Amino acid sequence: TLPPPSNITWHPSLSRRERNDLRKQRGLTIWLTGLSASGKSTVATALEQHLLHLGVSAYRLDGDNVRFGLNKDLGFSEKDRNENIRRISEVAKLFADSSTIAITSFISPYRADRDLARQLHAQPSGHADDADEPLPFVEVFVDVPLEVAEQRDPKGLYKKARAGEIKDFTGISAPYEEPTSPEITIKTHEKSVEECVAQITQWLADKGYIK
Ligand code: PPS
Repeated sequence: TLPPPSNITWHPSLSRRERNDLRKQRGLTIWLTGLSASGKSTVATALEQHLLHLGVSAYRLDGDNVRFGLNKDLGFSEKDRNENIRRISEVAKLFADSSTIAITSFISPYRADRDLARQLHAQPSGHADDADEPLPFVEVFVDVPLEVAEQRDPKGLYKKARAGEIKDFTGISAPYEEPTSPEITIKTHEKSVEECVAQITQWLADKGYIK
């Protein structure tokens, strides 16, 4: 066996507070939820870009980088959606813990799954200095009526769902449970993408999460 390295000192792991101070940024998760074609991905992408331009480290998790990778074994049954959201919650929490703003854009149709994500973020880090440093969890309801989403139908999925070609389709043949007390509600059929991004950014600034 190798002798222990003499020039390395082991430090206890950094607290969230220390990591945030060193990175000059508070880690948190912005959790967008809404129907297919509600505008989640569009707003998430614009928000990520806006935050990066402000010099804030942000990273978006969405179907493109999650359902084709980490969660490629999962479909759209209730059980698979539960597992999809559970894994995404854990990954978002890791990003937030690294002092990054994690932005998730998934339908996340079940209230219990979103509540679990919130609870995970509220758990203490285990570091003694972090007793009062939970990771903020910001639920954003992308609230558009089903008729609007169905009319947009950019991928033709609603049409297929109505024709019975896709089963368990959210809003048609599978439930969407609306948030009861989201931190923010945005309406992409009433406001522009820029206005929705500004609404979220202003909320973050008002809370002191970004400067
Ligand atoms: S979930 O419910 O949170 O696990 O779903 P999510 O990971 O966000 O994936 C939703 C995207 O998958 C496509 N798709 C379906 N959506 C809903 N129901 C069914 N059955 C389904 N099958 C495929 C659809 O394009 C969703 O994309 P978005 O971007 O939300 O429109």
